[in-house]
Amino acid sequence: MNSTPHPGLDSHEVELDRRKFFTQLGLGSLGVAAAGTLAFYYRYLSPNVLFEPSPIVNVGRTENFPTGSVTLDVDSAIYLVHIAEGFFSLSAICTHLGCMTAWKPELNMIACPCHGSRFNREGKKLAGPAPKPLPWLKLWLSDDGELMVDRSTTIPELQFLRV
Ligand code: FES
Repeated sequence: MNSTPHPGLDSHEVELDRRKFFTQLGLGSLGVAAAGTLAFYYRYLSPNVLFEPSPIVNVGRTENFPTGSVTLDVDSAIYLVHIAEGFFSLSAICTHLGCMTAWKPELNMIACPCHGSRFNREGKKLAGPAPKPLPWLKLWLSDDGELMVDRSTTIPELQFLRV
């Protein structure tokens, strides 16, 4: 009768099996620790870069904006306005707390839905808590005849682009 807990194996074979198991367990643990360390260093050494969209927006061709039109581009948060004096672009972000404004043709004004600021089509404040007018943005015509707006550059008011 065999008295070992592993029938068919002598105590030397059981010891080898146990040793092999613990060796593999140790190597596995080292492998997991090494992978974690590599992942940490990769994250630590890779540059922390935020990819922001370009501030330059191609608005399109002048013929898309008839005289008297006020066009809101929601994606870029700008207005393209065409009046008799020429084209200009305004930021659509309210100068109070940064809500997106909207053109209200029936009222002939730009309105902020958050706290009721109102602006005329030149961005001048008419009512509400906004501390400043809507800023005018740099606008130019590209070599291919497209209207381009730089959202990061403000310009003095009443600088119209005449085409
Ligand atoms: S954010 Fe426009 S009025 Fe407050």
